[in-house]
Amino acid sequence: MRIVVSILLFWCWGSVLLVWAEPEEIGKKGCRECHRFSSEEKESNKGPDLFYAGDKFYKNWLNKFLQSPMVIREMNFFSGSDFLSEKANASEPHVALTKEGAKRVANFLMTLRLPNLEAGKVNDEPLSKAESVRAKMLFERSFGCISCHRALNLVGKVRGGVSGPSLVNSGLRLKPDWIFHWLKTPQKFMYKGRMPVFNLNEETATRLTKYILSIRTNL
Ligand code: HEC
Ligand code: HEC
Repeated sequence: MRIVVSILLFWCWGSVLLVWAEPEEIGKKGCRECHRFSSEEKESNKGPDLFYAGDKFYKNWLNKFLQSPMVIREMNFFSGSDFLSEKANASEPHVALTKEGAKRVANFLMTLRLPNLEAGKVNDEPLSKAESVRAKMLFERSFGCISCHRALNLVGKVRGGVSGPSLVNSGLRLKPDWIFHWLKTPQKFMYKGRMPVFNLNEETATRLTKYILSIRTNL
């Protein structure tokens, strides 16, 4: 009898773990065909990596995106530096999930984190007006970020290149510490793509992070 109970308990616990580990939508909707959910998986060239989604995204944003996906990378997604040889897969709309499904998947994605990403790198204080002007110079002139990324001009019109993801309203999407680490050491994310590595110092990376957070329409 004791053995039967233990086996039953073990089985139940196993299922609970499995439910926590991964919602069924991931398998059913073929998310793994385009995304990596663990750094051990084979590199995908169809969609961005999600194995650090908990470090990168706000849960609210994920929840919304998974129910009604919007376009962030207008040029489609390419990985690897030899993107010219890759065929752009004509922009098919991203799979959408139900409200419940999105909630389950967003909760799961928030558990995917890198083990040693330092927190607390960027404080809440926004840039002063003068700092903001300097940061805009860095973004547009010194590093030419604007040539690959959408941002806003002085009167709030969207402008900028499209070979990288749009940074408009990314303060609702991306966590400040993640942006900082991405700018400072993209290697942490096993990234081998087309964004140049700038070797920024902490101060510049912080300034650019705060600048990115300020690129927002009046929502
Ligand atoms: C056919 C390939 C494909 C499938 C299947 C797919 N995705 Fe995506 N996914 C993409 C591409 C491409 C993007 C980038 C879209 C953009 O930037 O505009 C993306 C973006 C995302 C993002 C935002 C990531 C970021 O860095 O901006 C999340 C989160 C996501 N997908 C989750 C999922 C989940 C969960 C599933 C399964 C339910 C799934 N995807 C299925 C291709 C796919
Ligand atoms: C030559 C083009 C290019 C330049 C210049 C460039 N980037 Fe990028 N950037 C990219 C690409 C491509 C990616 C996307 C990788 C991907 O699709 O996940 C990216 C990703 C990012 C991301 C992460 C966005 C996300 O949603 O995953 C941020 C933040 C960012 N860049 C900021 C900057 C800043 C700040 C600068 C200037 C210091 C800059 N970039 C310069 C091409 C560029």
